[in-house]
Amino acid sequence: MKGNAVKRTNFKTTIIAVFMTVALSIFVFSCATIDRVVVAPPMIPGAKYVGSETCAPCHEKETKDFKITSHSRVTIPDPKGKRENVGCESCHGPGSLHVEAGGERGKFIVNPSKKPDACFQCHLDKQAQFNLPYHHPLKEGRMTCVNCHNPHGENIKLAKGLFVGRVNADCAQCHREQAGFHVFEHPALREGCTTCHDVHGSINPKMLKQRDANLCLRCHTQVPQAGAAPRSININNSDHTARLSQGACFSAGCHTAIHGSNVNPHLRY
Ligand code: HEC
Ligand code: HEC
Ligand code: HEC
Ligand code: HEC
Ligand code: HEC
Ligand code: HEC
Ligand code: HEC
Repeated sequence: MKGNAVKRTNFKTTIIAVFMTVALSIFVFSCATIDRVVVAPPMIPGAKYVGSETCAPCHEKETKDFKITSHSRVTIPDPKGKRENVGCESCHGPGSLHVEAGGERGKFIVNPSKKPDACFQCHLDKQAQFNLPYHHPLKEGRMTCVNCHNPHGENIKLAKGLFVGRVNADCAQCHREQAGFHVFEHPALREGCTTCHDVHGSINPKMLKQRDANLCLRCHTQVPQAGAAPRSININNSDHTARLSQGACFSAGCHTAIHGSNVNPHLRY
């Protein structure tokens, strides 16, 4: 009898241990799948989540294209341990009191306005990037996330897939010279400005992904030339052996018109 009871406790302990391991791995796994993003919506004392559909009748403009954004699918665990879709409320906080009050401006709802803090709440990795030495001037208060990302619409994910054209157009608002028309354009721009620039921040000047010739050699491979000297570097049918030791491809005297040129097909000036 006694032995049996001990065995049963052991069995129970094993079951509990197995259960804990499974629960823990599910927990770890679910954190890993949301990918560097810690989901922490703002709090509003006494308010509950009501869901994005509740907001729609009063806020048509913000709701119209919202379905296609990743934020429309953001979930958090509810008190019963299930996952609750928070959508609009992921940035604005739980909306029940705001709805009951008929939406009186400034009451019972968070307006993140244009401050990036609301976004950093969840996107910690972006905060780190904006702290790198070369970054768009957000901390300095000269622009915000909302200049490039529309939280309510399609260009929230502006650089993925079909949205490349959209990215360049977005950058063009402020960088017409680089993104505008050129007689001799550099086809690299068709892959998007982000092929060469880390726009949230970088350790390299001009927010470049790499600070030297490697930035270019990803696409301009060195082709060995028949009869050329050993170890010579040939790019685009032209011997670059001596040139590459003089600096980056885009330094003075070389391809300085890297985004495109109106006079020189080799993007020299
Ligand atoms: C990713 C975060 C985020 C999500 C999700 C989000 N919003 Fe917003 N919302 C913002 C930000 C940031 C602003 C301030 C924008 C600005 O000032 O240009 C804002 C502003 C607003 C405003 C005020 C507009 C004004 O003209 O003052 C309303 C209303 C609004 N959002 C409703 C919604 C609704 C409804 C949804 C869901 C369909 C939603 N938001 C989802 C971030 C978000
Ligand atoms: C019954 C209609 C109604 C519903 C439902 C409603 N709102 Fe509002 N909301 C309003 C009104 C009215 C305003 C004030 C607009 C103004 O003054 O231009 C407002 C303002 C806002 C603002 C701007 C607040 C500020 O201080 O600038 C945000 C953000 C907002 N609503 C988000 C939401 C979200 C998110 C939901 C859904 C959870 C929601 N609203 C549901 C009517 C509503
Ligand atoms: C409550 C947490 C939360 C807040 C606040 C938040 N986000 Fe997000 N955001 C997420 C999650 C979760 C994802 C989805 C991540 C994934 O799928 O990898 C996401 C995805 C994104 C994406 C990628 C979109 C895509 O489709 O690839 C962008 C861009 C983005 N957020 C910008 C913002 C901006 C700008 C703000 C502030 C206005 C903001 N976020 C506020 C949680 C949040
Ligand atoms: C100068 C324009 C610009 C600003 C400002 C900006 N972003 Fe982005 N963001 C982009 C572009 C372009 C991409 C696509 C990047 C790519 O494909 O390499 C992107 C992608 C993202 C993504 C999804 C892909 C990823 O890298 O995880 C998130 C999340 C994001 N941004 C959040 C933010 C937040 C939060 C802010 C403000 C703190 C912000 N961004 C400010 C242009 C900008
Ligand atoms: C709302 C305006 C705005 C948008 C949109 C914008 N930028 Fe910028 N960008 C700036 C400002 C402001 C600076 C800082 C310029 C300065 O400090 O003189 C800057 C700086 C830069 C720099 C570094 C310039 C230097 O001389 O060091 C690069 C590269 C750049 N942006 C690329 C981009 C790309 C790529 C995009 C599109 C994803 C983009 N920007 C979108 C405003 C913008
Ligand atoms: C093929 C890589 C590449 C692509 C694609 C690219 N850039 Fe650049 N960009 C550079 C390099 C290299 C520099 C640095 C030039 C220098 O240091 O003289 C630069 C510099 C800049 C600067 C700083 C001003 C200057 O000329 O020094 C801005 C602004 C800029 N780029 C914006 C953009 C925008 C906007 C796009 C998309 C339309 C874009 N870039 C696409 C490589 C690229
Ligand atoms: C995303 C790929 C890509 C990247 C990265 C890239 N290029 Fe290009 N570049 C191209 C393509 C495609 C062409 C047109 C085909 C060709 O001439 O090889 C081109 C053409 C050129 C040309 C004109 C060729 C000629 O006839 O003289 C020059 C110069 C050039 N690139 C320089 C650079 C430099 C410098 C860098 C680095 C800052 C760079 N490229 C990065 C794709 C790229």
